[in-house]
This record gives sequence, structure tokens and C-alpha cells, in this order.
Amino acid sequence: MKDQLLKKINNRTARVGVVGLGYVGLPLVVEFAKAGFTVVGYDVSQRVVDYLKSGKSHILDVSSEDIAKIVKSGHFVPTTDEAALGTVDAISIAVPTPLVKTRDPDMSYVLAAGDAIARHCHPGMLIVLESTTYPGTTRELMQPRLEGRGLTVGKDVFLAFSPERVDPGNEKYNTKNTPKVVGGITAACTEVAAALYQSCIDTIVPVSTTETAELVKLLENTFRSVNIGLVNEMAIVCDKLGVNVWDVINAAATKPFGYMKFTPGPGIGGHCIPLDPHYLAWKMRSLNYKTRFIDLASEINSAMPDYVVEKVGTALNKQKKAINGSRILVLGVAYKKDIDDMRESPALDVIRLLEERGAEVTYHDPFVAVLREGGHERKSEALTDAALKAADAVVIVTDHSGVDYQRVVDCASVVVDSRNATARTRSGRAHIVSL
Ligand SMILES: NC(=O)c1ccc[n+]([C@@H]2O[C@H](COP(=O)([O-])OP(=O)(O)OC[C@H]3O[C@@H](n4cnc5c(N)ncnc54)[C@H](O)[C@@H]3O)[C@@H](O)[C@H]2O)c1
Repeated sequence: MKDQLLKKINNRTARVGVVGLGYVGLPLVVEFAKAGFTVVGYDVSQRVVDYLKSGKSHILDVSSEDIAKIVKSGHFVPTTDEAALGTVDAISIAVPTPLVKTRDPDMSYVLAAGDAIARHCHPGMLIVLESTTYPGTTRELMQPRLEGRGLTVGKDVFLAFSPERVDPGNEKYNTKNTPKVVGGITAACTEVAAALYQSCIDTIVPVSTTETAELVKLLENTFRSVNIGLVNEMAIVCDKLGVNVWDVINAAATKPFGYMKFTPGPGIGGHCIPLDPHYLAWKMRSLNYKTRFIDLASEINSAMPDYVVEKVGTALNKQKKAINGSRILVLGVAYKKDIDDMRESPALDVIRLLEERGAEVTYHDPFVAVLREGGHERKSEALTDAALKAADAVVIVTDHSGVDYQRVVDCASVVVDSRNATARTRSGRAHIVSL
């Protein structure tokens, strides 16, 4: 089985399936198709599939031109028909792994995908889970589903975990040139999975087990969460000491070894850093171990929107104004600059907290035309001189590159800058409060 599958992968006659066509799945489809495979893209969303079938991309990092080309050439077949999974030789799973309200893992998407694959799996198939998850998921949830069909993993079918490292908006590192970690249930599983990814990704990093591969991703994102928590705390420390935190960080970053630059901000967002460490914390709780670094970083990071709002209150107070009744323009709502991803964006908390205190909030974001939250829909305001002048305070939550920050400080009366976006502006009319 292994040799047959390797041969099909190597001569590109293997049909590849990608389950979940979002931020992770779609770039992967493009790479597999470019490598010469025919790719079946399975998604439960009819809307996503119809959009892709019409040759358009719903993911910023993937061009519609690329999608149109591979759909037209027949290298990409988007479908909502799970039976199509029975026609493929290798499957990558990239479905969401969110948290439930209690911050425990929501495995429902992975389980649904696992069940769909189990219904259509056949001997000689490779299945790779890419969704970020707790260590043990591939062995405990995926393997029994395949073996329940009478297939032995490592002999009849091959099962591995390979974390996705996509960084939306990153112009230097993409799916192809970011090294990919692969760990299989058996050595044969690792070998086949590595062969598949080798066809379209420059560097493959094989590891010994699926648990190792699962933990690699959690270490990477916990590392980010903890270090962001550290600099966020440093911002609070510097504020109390009357020292500019950005000067401290930029000077520290001149050390050529032993230091890595992280920057403070209004909180963390996206589908990874605010969520992934909780997968590990949850798993460890089940083993009676408390992950203190994860918990502490989460506590500090999730309090940052309150901290920003406190700064807005203090800045308005200096103008003899209250948050209550003030017009506040939130500048940037995506979770990080130059992308349109709103998932877990701290801007949502900042807006909610300001409105709870009675502010009239509007926003501008060149990437997010409409903001839907809690059944409420609002539209991005044009960033005109008049809009800036009319606001009692402008709060920079996301530092999109295309915004003219000089104009912001020239027109606004108060600017609360949580990203150091105004660092290079000349002094203008605005009273600027930095984090
Ligand atoms: N977005 C990122 O930057 C990023 C980076 C690294 C890892 N990840 C991880 O990758 C995984 C996927 O994240 P994403 O950002 O691509 O999510 P996404 O929400 O952009 O896309 C997921 C897609 O899966 C589809 N889907 C849901 N259930 C399905 C099912 N049972 N069968 C088929 N399709 C189904 C959804 O309709 C959606 O189109 C998550 O585990 C995430 O943590 C994300």
C-alpha cells in the first residue's frame, strides 16, 4: 500500500482532497494544484463552494486569478458532496478548532470531518490532520474512526498530523516557503505524509509522533502568547514609571542575540494565539496540571482592551469630557494590520467597552467595510478630515499601513494610540496618548 501510494504521489496521479477551504485549506489547495495534483476541495459551506466554483477567492492571501485558473483547468474541484472524498488518495483536514464559551476545545468540526472521511475511506489512503488541536487528538479521535472501518493505520491507511503555520498577510513567508512539520502514527505514515507535502513545500521537518507534531504548533503559539503578555505587562509597568515602552523595546531589540522583539497592543486576535494555548491548558487540566504561563499570559492579554479604554477615559478627562456621550472613532478593527480578518479581534472588545460606558462609536477600516457583531451591523466611515475633527477621541486599534497617520494627528483632538502608529508623525493638533 505504502509503495503504491508513494508512486502515485511522486508521479502526481494521486488525487488530493482538502477538507475545509478557509484561510488554511485554500492556500494548500493552490499549492497542491500548482504541484500538478488534481485537488478535490470539500467544504460544508455551499456559499464558499459556489464562490470558488465561480473562480473567485474569499481569502485575501489567495488570488482569484489563481482560483479561476485551477478551477478552469480541472485541477481544483470544489464540492459540498462528501462522497467525493471516496475518490481521493490523500486528504488534508483544515477545519476550525474554536473554543466553546467555557474556553474548552470545540472538537465538533474535527469530529464531523473525521466521520465524513471514515464513511468514504479506502485502503491506500493518507489522512493528515492540520487543524490546531491538543496533543493526542490524531491518535485518540482520528485513528479509531479509521480502524472502526476495519483498516489498520500504518498498513492499510496512513495517518499523520501536520500543523499549519500560515500567517495571513505575511508577504515573505507563505505556505510554500514555510517549513512544514509532519508526524505520523507510524514511521510509514510519516514517510507518506512527508512525501505528499514535499511535492509542494520547500522544507519538510519530520518528527517522531503525532503528539510531537501537535505540540510543536502549541509551543509556537504559546510562545507568542506568553511573550506578548510579557510586553503588554511591560507597557503597564512603563506607564506607571513614566517611561516610553516603545523606546525600551526598540533599544532592547538592538541586542543581536538572546532577545526577540514583541510589541504591546490592545489585545490578541485571530484564530490562533488567543485560542490555541487553551487547547494545551485544557489537556493538562485533564492530567491535573495547571499551565501557569498560559493562564497568566491569557489573563494579561485579555485585559488589554480594558486598559485601552481606561486610557481613553483618562485622555478625555484631561479635556474635561467623559466617555459617556463622547463620539469615538475606532481606527482599524481587523485583528492585525493589513488584513481583513476580524476573528477574536480586540477591537470588538474595545468597541463594546466604550459603548457600555455610553460612547457613540464609529469605525474606519480600509479592509473591513462592514462589521457584524451580536446581530448589529455597522459600516466603515470614510476617514475624512471632518470625521477626524468631529470625534472627541480617535482610538488606533489596528495600525494598517495605508492610513495617513499625520492627517490623523493633524485633525483629531485626542488620539489614543495602542500600536505606536503615530511614532513617525510630526506633532499636530492632537493630544496623543500612547500605550
Ligand atoms: N487562520 C490562520 O491563520 C491559521 C493558522 C494556522 C493554523 N490554523 C488552524 O487551521 C484550522 C483551520 O483554520 P482556518 O483559519 O482555515 O478556518 P476557516 O474558518 O477559515 O476555514 C474553515 C473551513 O472549514 C469549513 N468546514 C467546517 N466544518 C467542516 C466539515 N465538517 N467539513 C468540511 N468543511 C468544514 C468551513 O465552512 C470553512 O470554510 C484551525 O484549526 C486553525 O486553528 C489557522
